[in-house]
Amino acid sequence: MESVPETDKQALPVRPRILLAASGSVAAIKFENLCHTFMEWGEVRAVVTKSSLHFIDKSALPSSVILYTDDDEWSSWKKIGDDVLHIELRKWADILVIAPLSANTLAKIAGGLCDNLLTCIVRAWDYSKPLYVAPAMNTSMLNNPFTRRHLNTIGELGASLLPPITKKLACGDYGNGAMAEPSVIYNTVRLSFNTPSETSCSSQDQSI
Ligand SMILES: Cc1cc2nc3c(=O)[nH]c(=O)nc-3n(C[C@H](O)[C@H](O)[C@H](O)COP(=O)(O)O)c2cc1C
Repeated sequence: MESVPETDKQALPVRPRILLAASGSVAAIKFENLCHTFMEWGEVRAVVTKSSLHFIDKSALPSSVILYTDDDEWSSWKKIGDDVLHIELRKWADILVIAPLSANTLAKIAGGLCDNLLTCIVRAWDYSKPLYVAPAMNTSMLNNPFTRRHLNTIGELGASLLPPITKKLACGDYGNGAMAEPSVIYNTVRLSFNTPSETSCSSQDQSI
């Protein structure tokens, strides 16, 4: 078989490897939708925290999306020389999108903690590759001063913010804190993938 000339290789459509992650916000009910949406563009793998599984119906996720949980981190490692899952996923991914990002996981990654699969991936993340976060939490949690501090910290590391929106929240309150709509998350990530944007978490003009 003839090899593909370099010029033709560059013209091939790029299907990025997208690592989608969910943490324990009620907005994780939209994770299935996010998986389906991102599959239109790239190869998708999913990482979920233990808490997020209260909101995700694993059986409804697309069959082609491999779902990783904390249990996989340890069941896949038996001895020295075996692959370490969080390192393999960090190498595999071209993009990491955490949607929803809970207050707890935000605080952990801002503080450098890494006590589950998702936070280990983030702690090992190569910030020359994009990392997007879509926080989702009750308005009172969002307005807590820790939220801005933590978003600023991860913004300084290189994470980009997909800002939450104002609407009636799952708890019945009306206010800011709902996760950005999946279509907005998808369009923002896709458009900015080849066009570095100004969405750093530390930008001063964000609404939170
Ligand atoms: C019904 C319910 C809904 C919750 N919704 C949210 C939420 O929208 N955002 C949030 O940050 N935490 C929410 N929490 C709290 C988190 O699930 C909790 O902080 C958990 O420890 C997060 O774990 P994780 O960050 O490892 O996923 C909710 C808890 C419950 C019981």
